[in-house]
Order: sequence, then structure tokens, then C-alpha cells
Amino acid sequence: MALIEWKDGFSVGIDSIDEQHRNLIEIINKFDEARHKGKGSRIMAQILNDILGYTQEHFAFEEKLLKEAGYSGLDLHQKQHRQLLQKIERLQFEFMNKHQRITVEVADLFKYWLTSHILQHDKAYAAELQKNTV
Ligand SMILES: [Fe+2]
Repeated sequence: MALIEWKDGFSVGIDSIDEQHRNLIEIINKFDEARHKGKGSRIMAQILNDILGYTQEHFAFEEKLLKEAGYSGLDLHQKQHRQLLQKIERLQFEFMNKHQRITVEVADLFKYWLTSHILQHDKAYAAELQKNTV
């Protein structure tokens, strides 16, 4: 079973962002599946690479959208994105260069991302954006 199933409660009410969040969840599930199957480090390295690439793209898209919308919390949101990216980069570095097992840390990071970032911070900008367009 997938680690995370998409549910309506994840929606921020902006289709393009929801679509990207769904894709992220898919990559997270792929990671979790590989972890349980004890897949080799080559595959894990590939998945980590996918996660980083996708995250960079997604954050850039989100920040552009928020900038255009004049979101009042943009600075803080960008800071949170930078911190998440730095964490992923650090975990990737430890995995690639120190050959450390990082699966638990990655799983924790995803949990934080979903419960804290998407459900609180992303929803906060969604609420403000919607208020401004009505
Ligand atoms: Fe975000």
C-alpha cells in the first residue's frame, strides 16, 4: 500500500499546485516502496535525485505564482522552501558521500513537509490568494 494517499484535505484549491503536490506524493511513495523492498543504493540515489529536481522545480513555480499574486508572506515562504531544499541536499550528500542510511530521516522530512508545509503554510497562501480574487 502506498505510504501516502492523496486526499481532498491536501488540496490548496489551485489546480496546478495540487497537481504538483500529487506528483511529489507519487515520488515519496516510490521512495517508500524502494525502501521496503530493500532496493539497492543505485535506485535510492536515483530517487533522491528525482526528489531534489522535482522539488526545485515545484518551489520555483510556487514562488513565481506567489510573487505575481503579491502574497504578503512570500519572504517567509521562500525561507521555508530554502530550508527544505537544504535538508534534502544534505541528506543526499550524506547518502552519496558518507554512505549513511538516511531512509528514516527522509521519511521524517516528508512527513514534516506534508503535515506542516503543505497543510499549514501552503494553505495559508491559498487562503490569502483566494480572498484577493473574490
Ligand atoms: Fe510551498
